[in-house]
Amino acid sequence: MARFIDELKRSHRCNDLRSTDEGKEVILFGWVASYRDHGGCVFVDLRDRDGITQIVFDPDLSGYAALPKEAYEHARTLRNEWVIGVRGRVVSRGANKNPKLATGEIEVHAIELTVFNKSDTPPFEIADEIDTGEEKRLQYRYLDLRRAPLQKTLRIRHRINQTVRSYFDEQGFLELETPFMVKYTPGGARNFLVPSRMSAGKFYALAESPQLFKQLYMVAGFDRYFQIVKCFRDEALRLDRQPEFTQIDVEMSFVNQDDVFKVMEGLIFKVWKDVLGIDLHEKYPSGRFPQMPFEESMSKYGNDKPDMRFEMPHTDITKIVVEHDGANIPLFGPITNKFKSGEYRADLPAEIIKAMRVPAQFAGKLSRAELDKLEDFVKGMGAKGLARAKVDDAGNWAQSPLGKTVHPQAREEINQALGAKTGDLLFFQFGKEAMVQTVMANLRVHLAKKLGLIPESGHGGKFEFLWVVNPPLFEYDEEKKTWVAAHHAFTRPHDECIDFLDKDPGKVLCHRYDLVLNGFEIGGGSIRLHNPDVQAKVFRALGISDEEAREKFGFLLDALRFGAPPHGGIALGMDRLSMLLSGAQSLRDVIPFPKTQRGTDQMTDAPNRVDSTQLRELHIRITE
Ligand code: AMO
Repeated sequence: MARFIDELKRSHRCNDLRSTDEGKEVILFGWVASYRDHGGCVFVDLRDRDGITQIVFDPDLSGYAALPKEAYEHARTLRNEWVIGVRGRVVSRGANKNPKLATGEIEVHAIELTVFNKSDTPPFEIADEIDTGEEKRLQYRYLDLRRAPLQKTLRIRHRINQTVRSYFDEQGFLELETPFMVKYTPGGARNFLVPSRMSAGKFYALAESPQLFKQLYMVAGFDRYFQIVKCFRDEALRLDRQPEFTQIDVEMSFVNQDDVFKVMEGLIFKVWKDVLGIDLHEKYPSGRFPQMPFEESMSKYGNDKPDMRFEMPHTDITKIVVEHDGANIPLFGPITNKFKSGEYRADLPAEIIKAMRVPAQFAGKLSRAELDKLEDFVKGMGAKGLARAKVDDAGNWAQSPLGKTVHPQAREEINQALGAKTGDLLFFQFGKEAMVQTVMANLRVHLAKKLGLIPESGHGGKFEFLWVVNPPLFEYDEEKKTWVAAHHAFTRPHDECIDFLDKDPGKVLCHRYDLVLNGFEIGGGSIRLHNPDVQAKVFRALGISDEEAREKFGFLLDALRFGAPPHGGIALGMDRLSMLLSGAQSLRDVIPFPKTQRGTDQMTDAPNRVDSTQLRELHIRITE
């Protein structure tokens, strides 16, 4: 029988011991974080998931804590990351306290040592700050995960999970599961497909979310559902996107939008309290988050997830420019002409002109060289350039080609629309709406970082929540020249917009909402369409025939005809939430075993080739 583990049970963890434990005999297990052999004594920092305790192997100690000679010699052979067990006695460090360690008041004088396992020399140091490239860290993820910052973020994930479960349980929600292998339905993100062995030539899709199934739970009368669930999407990856990610998924019956908001606000308040010890009531005394219409968010900030930690809104100046026949600015001439000739219709996306004002107090901080670099920044996003101007005492646009020709009256009106004052800097962007919005939205955030209005990463202790509400139900697909569902075809339009469904689809607003935190979309959901008549109208507006609708969504359409209650829900991005709560920079820092930017697993080497027998069984042939 092994002495350690079988007989000598662990008495404490490596972050437990304090001066009040002095004199106790203790048994600790862990990894050698570092060792120093000096003055005939071996010092080991012993690490486990909770912290570090200093162990001393001193051959000269006698009496109670006498260390046998062999144990001392054994200790001299220890190396980093060996897994050991130690029995010893807690002793005060006297004047040699280490204020950086929670256990720094004491050390453990070893009496007995066992080595459970040796370790190869790790490919990188297991330390808080390392400059090892991410590829290497992901290849040895289990070693990377041993490092304290990652241990901390995974603990945060654990805490969020526990809080979510207890909160929803208290609120009467049932935690219910939904299948991962589902029928492929079009719309939304691109799916991963799973070939079926038993049905030759057919595929399952991996669920991109439990959306349709959670609605079926409502039809089945479960009333309130939640699930912490994996979702799979084969989309372009970014720092805040993984192909396999986790949602906190929620659906409720007999609710309106505000009921959903209240439940989710309650959850967020509780998570912030439990995880960070922050009472969000200090900032939001009513317990509610502010709301902003989608249209306002787009026009002021260029996207539907504005970072509200700073202002610097945009202004759409297309109308002013067109009214002034191009304002005598040659760059704006072609757009103006297209509006005047009727080529651009008010109900379809066109080109726009936007301006953003950087107030004088900040504008002064930007050197000429930095301003020129901004030009490269926007070109990286597909812009042709970045026109700019400095407002002088008389309201003229100095240091700018636009200022040379601009019609004074138009300039005056633009200055007024922007609230421009002496010394302010103005940036202009024009072209296709989507491009202008993206460029200006990213420029706003980029400038805010440069000007120190928000930190380069993390949240600077500031949490600005916002509900973005009432977006349009449809968006225009310029390639296909048709309207497509902006989210999915089962979102409920505002009652007063139903008449527009056939006449002017672009005008139909809907009960969809996103929860935004510091410029990240942390959640999104909607009130669903449970009325089959309106549903049919929506399909018609989307150009989907009855047969097509039946083929694609038949099971849901059937279900909605069997007494579907009014219902709605939301899903929070668990990974994004963890990222923001832990101040991490990327989802890869909060997901234990993430995929790389290319969607691969650096450690196991997935995806990989499989042999031809396996492929034959699946009725698949690879074409080169
Ligand atoms: P949606 O598609 O908006 O809604 O997703 C909800 C939230 O999930 C997070 N998220 C992601 N996180 C990491 N990597 C990804 N690839 C990724 N994609 C999305 C975001 C997002 O806000 N079924 C609906 C919800 C509903 O209507 O109830 C849905 O999935 O934080």
